Amino acid sequence: MYNSASIVTAGDVTEEWRQRAQREGLARVMRASQPAEYNADTTERTRQVVAEQLRTAARELARPLSAVLEIGCGIGRLTPTLAAQAGHVTALDMTPGMLDEAKTSCSELSNVEFELARAEDLPWHGRNFDVAVSVWVLMHVLDEAALAEICRSISHSCRYFVLMEYAQAAIPVSEWSRPRTVDDYLALMPGAQLVETQELLYGGDRSTAALIRLPG
Ligand SMILES: C[S@@+](CC[C@H](N)C(=O)[O-])C[C@H]1O[C@@H](n2cnc3c(N)ncnc32)[C@H](O)[C@@H]1O
Repeated sequence: MYNSASIVTAGDVTEEWRQRAQREGLARVMRASQPAEYNADTTERTRQVVAEQLRTAARELARPLSAVLEIGCGIGRLTPTLAAQAGHVTALDMTPGMLDEAKTSCSELSNVEFELARAEDLPWHGRNFDVAVSVWVLMHVLDEAALAEICRSISHSCRYFVLMEYAQAAIPVSEWSRPRTVDDYLALMPGAQLVETQELLYGGDRSTAALIRLPG
């Protein structure tokens, strides 16, 4: 895990996302350094992977998913996939422009509730979810202590965790990102068990989607 003190602050990351929310379409949540023509296919594959991992969690629980938490929903690219698999989805993001777009694009979904919130504030605290889903979000939490607290809290509030992060980037990731391995995350959630991983290719980038069983 990366331990050096960063000169990029959480405020810089917040401002970066505010600006990215002003892009068009999927480019708001996808890498500007990748050719835009990859975005739709990558998104479709991501939806498939997340749906499969949610179905696996439901199979293990031996019942349909009740409450699902989406941490960093962005423009709601994946939210309908979650809503199709769960009784209720709580989708949060810290960037108002992203959340506004998510609310518009998901306005037909009656089982989704959106919250403007930072993961660092642990807005899910005291609530219980079957699954937390976080795709390409936690790498933007630069502070290791804050990340540890987020993981500890997810671990207590949720039964499963669907986590997708870059495993290997073809182009160096931005200073607003801190790539970490699945093992780094598992180390922050004592008692958690890896159920399965799947790979997602995006141009030359490779992401790992991990389904993690949490100790509860
Ligand atoms: C790369 S986008 C991914 C969005 C969505 N998960 C997807 O796959 O389409 C990252 C999102 O995470 C949000 N985000 C980044 N850091 C966050 C934090 N600390 N708390 C809440 N949201 C955060 C950003 O506002 C942005 O919408």
